[in-house]
Amino acid sequence: MGYITSELLEETGYVVLDSYDQPIDPKEWLDIEYVDWKSSGDTRFAPLASAKGEIECNGFWNHKPPRTDKDGVWIDSQTAIAPTLTARAKEPGSNVGRCRVIELQPNTYADALYNLHQDDNNRLNPDGTGWVVRSFFNLTDDKDSFFVLRHNRTDPSGETRIALPAGAQLVIDTQRLWHAAAHFGDEPRYCLITSWESGPELDAYLEKYHARKHVDSVEVPQDVLDAGQAEQSRRIAAREAALRARGQQEKLAMSEA
Ligand SMILES: [Fe+2]
Repeated sequence: MGYITSELLEETGYVVLDSYDQPIDPKEWLDIEYVDWKSSGDTRFAPLASAKGEIECNGFWNHKPPRTDKDGVWIDSQTAIAPTLTARAKEPGSNVGRCRVIELQPNTYADALYNLHQDDNNRLNPDGTGWVVRSFFNLTDDKDSFFVLRHNRTDPSGETRIALPAGAQLVIDTQRLWHAAAHFGDEPRYCLITSWESGPELDAYLEKYHARKHVDSVEVPQDVLDAGQAEQSRRIAAREAALRARGQQEKLAMSEA
């Protein structure tokens, strides 16, 4: 039967929507409760919706009973502080799974390349229902930072780098594309990440905000790209050697953001 997917995401695996142009009080992401949750990079997360409405970030498939990344339970104590973010996550009207704000400390392009991963949003997702994709709504005005997207973790050809000013909104098939953020500066980056189920509601939302399947990559000097690629190779090799020494294998797919 197969999953219900968005035609707009078929070609490139991502779309960039119109930027959100309304001001949001930073208290909405600064005053909610964060938990330490190791993801790609130095991160903390503040869930707005979780598996059971508790302030934790585990994949829904790790709960009992295990289930896919849908039917997230809103956390009243968090949504009361972040009403605009909650409304934005609910805006398409599609099923919402995990919904959380990520706090990412500054890093480098090489860090982002090493952190590239695929998500696990569709584990246990029943055949014939909507494929789970993810929305990234950038909250802080990280003009020089960018999201890195690749079809293959270690292959730079076809890499896309999407700018992350405040209000930038991307919808990405994060189980298909390798992804991570390169975030520069002195302050953490905050971004609302929401798991949305594909279907007619999401399609209408993507069209309403003029989803673009292709954007120009952020320009980065070739020597920086080359150095980042070399550093990624070095770190992957070092990690594989360390894991081999322990008799383990590299874990390529991460389950979180
Ligand atoms: Fe991810």
